[in-house]
Amino acid sequence: MRQLATMTIISNCTESVIKDAAASLIAGNLVAFPTETVYGLGADACNEEAVARVYEVKGRPINHPLIVHISSISNLDKWAKDIPEYAVKLARAFWPGPLTLILPRTDLAKDFITGGQNNVGIRVPAHTVALSLLKEFEDQGGYGIAAPSANRFGKVSPTCANDVKAELSGYLNSNDLILDGGQSSIGVESTIINCTKTTPAILRPGGITATMINDLLGIDIEVVTKNDSDQIRAPGLLESHYSPKAKVYLSGTPSAGDGFIALSKFPTPPGVIRLTSPATNEEYARTLYQGLRLADSKKLSKVFVIEPTGNGIAVAVCDRLQKAAE
Ligand code: TXA
Ligand code: MG
Repeated sequence: MRQLATMTIISNCTESVIKDAAASLIAGNLVAFPTETVYGLGADACNEEAVARVYEVKGRPINHPLIVHISSISNLDKWAKDIPEYAVKLARAFWPGPLTLILPRTDLAKDFITGGQNNVGIRVPAHTVALSLLKEFEDQGGYGIAAPSANRFGKVSPTCANDVKAELSGYLNSNDLILDGGQSSIGVESTIINCTKTTPAILRPGGITATMINDLLGIDIEVVTKNDSDQIRAPGLLESHYSPKAKVYLSGTPSAGDGFIALSKFPTPPGVIRLTSPATNEEYARTLYQGLRLADSKKLSKVFVIEPTGNGIAVAVCDRLQKAAE
């Protein structure tokens, strides 16, 4: 179903642009929009046909659930029930922000959103364009915007509007829109927390770190690694993902002509192509996906990476690098 690349990128997201974009979502079209983590491919989370198009455009298996985005914690109980006290604390502390809570669903969250599971992922993003779109969409009668990262399945998430276009222009149509809200400030996807049990667990590390959560809740949160059968199914979190075409190596020495990603304190070996040179771990997260995309646009076959260290955002960066390398 490849279609002509006629969808529009809108850079100046005025009030009237946001109104039209919300109306377009209500009408069943797709709107890609910026968030502080990565760009999302949005659809009305109550419209089965629109959601089906998200899966089609991404090329994503339908048992992979979608995150529903809402404008405020005050709408949470429309989508989720039996919300544990710790989840309320997390939402109050970190929303809007890079945090997704997996909670028992209400009847509003249909199987086509949850992949047939009895729980739903909810997030309030911290980006002015995303928040005004969500508020306007809710004012026009919508309940939530389902939005996976706006990339083809298994590929690198986009962190700017042009990257969304590069990923999806062949699959979107002329009624779909891409809203341009600049470069995503965090650069890796949200922290996902399983809130369906008596204690929370991190299913995907992100901008809200284990330390931040532990400080808030006074616990030592579990970080789920591979295939923990005790935890809920979160398909996209376990296998190879976030992959550029180039092969990613987490050890070894690059040769001339290979790509290289590392903190700026590590010098570039002679003849090697530096893809990003971040000064801090935060900048590492913000520039990682663009570095991986640059490797592909330069048609490199190998990228060597020196992973960041530390227990903040570095954990999320290392998680994505390990999956990119798989
Ligand atoms: O930062 C983000 O979370 C971005 C922006 C756009 O908000 N969204 C995002 O969505 O990363 P996506 O679909 O690319 O990744 C969401 C992951 C998937 O691996 C999915 O399997 C998991 O979250 N997930 C979503 N809902 C779930 C649920 N109800 N139960 C378990 N896992 C869920
Ligand atoms: Mg994704």
